[in-house]
Parts: sequence; C-alpha cells; structure tokens
Amino acid sequence: MISSIVFILVLSVHQCDSYPYLASKLQPDIFHPFQEPGPNDIRGPCPGLNAAANHGFISRSGITTLAELVQMQQDLYNVGLDLAIVLATVGVALDGDILTGKLSIGKESSAVPGLLRTPGGLNAHNKFEGDTSLTRNDYYLADGDNFRFNGTLYGMMYAEAQKNNGLYSWKAMADYPLLLYGAATFLYELFPNGTDKLPTEKVISSFFGAKQTGNGKWAATPERIPSNWYKRETPYTLVDVAVEILKLYLEHIALFGGNTGRPNSFILNPLQLTLDKQTVNGILCFLYQTILSVVPSQIETLVTTPLAILNYLTANLDPIFGPQFGCPSTSLDQIVAKKQ
Ligand code: HEM
Repeated sequence: MISSIVFILVLSVHQCDSYPYLASKLQPDIFHPFQEPGPNDIRGPCPGLNAAANHGFISRSGITTLAELVQMQQDLYNVGLDLAIVLATVGVALDGDILTGKLSIGKESSAVPGLLRTPGGLNAHNKFEGDTSLTRNDYYLADGDNFRFNGTLYGMMYAEAQKNNGLYSWKAMADYPLLLYGAATFLYELFPNGTDKLPTEKVISSFFGAKQTGNGKWAATPERIPSNWYKRETPYTLVDVAVEILKLYLEHIALFGGNTGRPNSFILNPLQLTLDKQTVNGILCFLYQTILSVVPSQIETLVTTPLAILNYLTANLDPIFGPQFGCPSTSLDQIVAKKQ
C-alpha cells in the first residue's frame, strides 16, 4: 500500500546532472555494459533498480546505498533530485539500514546491518512493496513471492497497451486494473527513449526483462537498458509525478488498501485520497502523511527503532515536503503526540 503512495512525491530543487551524464546522454555508455546478474547477486521487485544494477549504475551485487541511489536515478533516468531523495530515503528507512544508508534491492542480506535485526530488503511486504503491483503477485496470494516477474500479469498490461496503439501510455496504465500509482507513471515518463518519448513495447519489455515465448506467454529475462536509448531531457520532479498520479487516479477512482492473508480479505486503509486532497499539494501531503504513518504501526513494541526511523525520515523529507506545499508540520514531537 505504501508503494502506491511512495511512488509519488514533489518540489523544485535544482537538478544536479553531473558530468559526464548530461541530459539525454546515450545509454548504456561504455562504462555501464550490460551483465547478467551472477548467482549471488540480488535482484527484486523494481525493474528500474534491477536494470540499473545489471548495468553497474548501482552495485551489481544488489546491495546499494542512499547516495548511490540518488545519484543513479539522476544519471540514468533524469529523475528530479527531490523525487530521487524521497524514493531513496523511504527505501532505506523502511527496508534498509539508516545508520549505514545500505539497502538490499531484493531479499534480506547479512551485508545490510540493522538497528535491531537484519532489514528485510525491498522484497519485504507492506513497507515499500505492497499489493497492486503491475507485474508482481500479491504477497499473500503467491506464498510470499511478491518480487518475481509474473508473465501473465505482464501479458494483461501488454493487452492494455495494444488497445492504445501499442503504447504504455497514461491511458493504458489508467485502464490497467492492477494499478501502482506513481510507478505506473514511470512507464510513460521515465522508460521512453528521450528521442521519441514513446512508451513502446521495445523499451518497456527491455526494462521489465519481458520476453515473448509464443502463444501469448511472457518469460522473465534480466532487465536491461534498450539499445540506442537516451534518458528524458527534463528532470521528472515530485510535482510532475503528483500531476500524473492525479490524472491516473481521477480516470478510475479506487480505494487504497491491501490483502491480509486470505483471498477476498482486502481491507481499506484509513488514509484515502478524499475530494479535498485531490490537488497537487493535496496529493503530496497525503503521500508524506502516509509515509510517516507506516513506520510506528509496524514496530510498535520497539520504542527506539521507530523513533530513530521517524527521525531519519523527517530529517531527510521535511525540507522537501515542508512549507512550499503547505503540508501540515511533520515534526517528530507532533507525530509521537498523535500516536499517544
Ligand atoms: C530509490 C529508488 C527506488 C526504489 C527504492 C524503488 C523501489 C521499488 C519497489 C519496492 C517496488 C515494488 C512495489 C510493489 O510491487 O508494490 C518498485 C516497483 C517499480 N519500480 Fe521502483 N524503486 C525506485 C526507483 C525506480 C525508478 C527510478 C524507476 C524507473 C525508472 C522504477 C520503476 C519501477 C516500476 C515500473 C515498478 C513497478 C513494477 C511492477 O509492479 O511490476 N523504480 N520499485
């Protein structure tokens, strides 16, 4: 559930597009050749991170860091600095180690220490990863396999694109019922080639590692950057993603929630995108509120851990979601007071 939300955030911080990765630079460059992951390399539910690791934009081992994630998102995909910080911060806070900034992009790993126990990595359920994934199973409906590519789901998404001139456009994504707001926008905003800006089958199947095997079936191959691919020219910021999420949401209004262990056991999340929140600012504040509300409920018996994590989240994210969007104050004192 948090994932539906986490993938959405804003602000216009200036973009640091450092040498030699100038906007629209041809990828993959000679420094980032594709290599299949080795037997001990970790991959997980995010095609964007898996492709980055398969090209060495982050460690090929799949154990990355906050700094590496922020840099890679700008260098490879031209994600805006604000959105890059938000995604990396939430990933490390919920699934990684806030002291070292380390994160496994898939299963838990002893290479990532934790405050009290080994963090779950991005495969961990209902932290960053949630139900409603585009091509991954719901956790409880697939015996905990919420991270591997599911060819049947990809085939359904492909069918939706076919109805839209073969493009994974905003309309195709809005009509695709397994909607992961935010990440869905990445298909038509971050994955297209900067030259034609089109979310074609060629680019989407390459980033998802989807290979057609005949009779309508799709198999998983390692995710890779398409050949002769340029990243988008302008940074994709939090404001941009909020605008897109609102568009997707309003096309088919849906309630947020998740499965709880049995088929047909979907429960509603108390935080919903009510009418008053259906603006760009409203969406951003809603996202931030949701990010902060996830932590204490998960580790409620461990007093020190949630406070340390909340501190980390607010220290990194308050400067981004702060006064410019008119979000209510998120100071730690206020969060703790509300929980009591
Ligand atoms: C620090 C940055 C990032 C983190 C921590 C992250 C993490 C995740 C996680 C945990 C999921 C699974 C969500 C779920 O299934 O509920 C996911 C899905 C996804 N991510 Fe990322 N991600 C990051 C950046 C990106 C970028 C830059 C892109 C695109 C260029 C991207 C594209 C996607 C897509 C398309 C999905 C949906 C996959 C599916 O459901 O089949 N991500 N990401």
